[in-house]
Amino acid sequence: MLVLGIETSCDETGVAIYSGGGGLLEHAVYSQIALHAEYGGVVPELASRDHVRKLVPMVRQMLADAGLNGERIDGVAYTAGPGLAGALLVGAAFGRSLAWGWGVPAVGVHHMEGHLLAPMLESERPVFPFVALLVSGGHTQLVLVEGVGRYRLLGESVDDAAGEAFDKTAKLLQLGYPGGPVLARLAEQGEPGRFRFPRPMTDRPELDFSFSGLKTFALTTWQREAALAQDLDRLKADICRAFEDAVVDTLLIKCRRALEQTGATSLVLAGGVSANRRLREAVELMMDRQGGRAFYPRPEFCTDNGAMIAYAGWQRLKAGQHEALAFDIRPRWDMTTLEPVA
Ligand code: KG4
Ligand code: ZN
Repeated sequence: MLVLGIETSCDETGVAIYSGGGGLLEHAVYSQIALHAEYGGVVPELASRDHVRKLVPMVRQMLADAGLNGERIDGVAYTAGPGLAGALLVGAAFGRSLAWGWGVPAVGVHHMEGHLLAPMLESERPVFPFVALLVSGGHTQLVLVEGVGRYRLLGESVDDAAGEAFDKTAKLLQLGYPGGPVLARLAEQGEPGRFRFPRPMTDRPELDFSFSGLKTFALTTWQREAALAQDLDRLKADICRAFEDAVVDTLLIKCRRALEQTGATSLVLAGGVSANRRLREAVELMMDRQGGRAFYPRPEFCTDNGAMIAYAGWQRLKAGQHEALAFDIRPRWDMTTLEPVA
């Protein structure tokens, strides 16, 4: 079964073809970063319009690269939510129309399920049940995954998501957009331990997160120290390091608890922040010590992409799930309400 995947929930246009028998055949991502950079964040209307511009040529090119005619595609999967309503509508309308034209089924995929299953695109895959830490720009969630579509939410952010905290802190420190990767790069040069930021909510047994206070902590540290500092670049790097250490430590503490509480021995890391090098190293070390295993997608599949949507859609289509002709998008969507597969 060949599935075309389409991702347009935010500021990346992603397309891919996944084959049930042959794995991932092709994928392409176009990032709108340059388009939004001058505004310091994603402008929803510009995002929608750019998806409209890019989707047709990207799908055409990808089919040509794969040496496939569209008629060979057996099903279409598109991100139906959560995300920006206008951006989702572009992918949903396009995906649904293609499927109608080709006379094949289409399925609307939950964006976070896509992230969560992205490690399944690698040769070494986790075995159910496992704990997944989903850390993106919009979500921070710990989920017990018992099968495809069998998700138990263990904890989530009560305010800013981890990626959002990275982005907002980077903005406050005037590091540009998108802030997460820039902040992480600067943190590499920072001195560990010069500043110590709190590890929010780690004194409580539950598995929820709160990251919004960290950006304020970063800002007040900057305002206090900048007046006295000789070297402002150094100061910024040290603050970035303290911020990153606090986020990584907090995520790690909660992951350890989630593994203890569930008895799972595998941990999956997914979503944009899982591209963070220090987080990966810390998780790796923790899992080694505990005798468990960590799984994550290759960096290009940590951030938004069409491959994860094609894969998640393939799982659902092969189980016979698909949409009626009318389509719907869900800008807000609770993943634990998804139908189990099989
Ligand atoms: O999954 P994703 O591409 O989009 C959403 O579904 O939100 O995640 C994007 C988020 C952004 O907040 C970005 O700053 C963050 O992931 N991010 C990082 C890194 N790379 C991307 N955060 C920290 N360190 C990184 N290396
Ligand atoms: Zn995402």
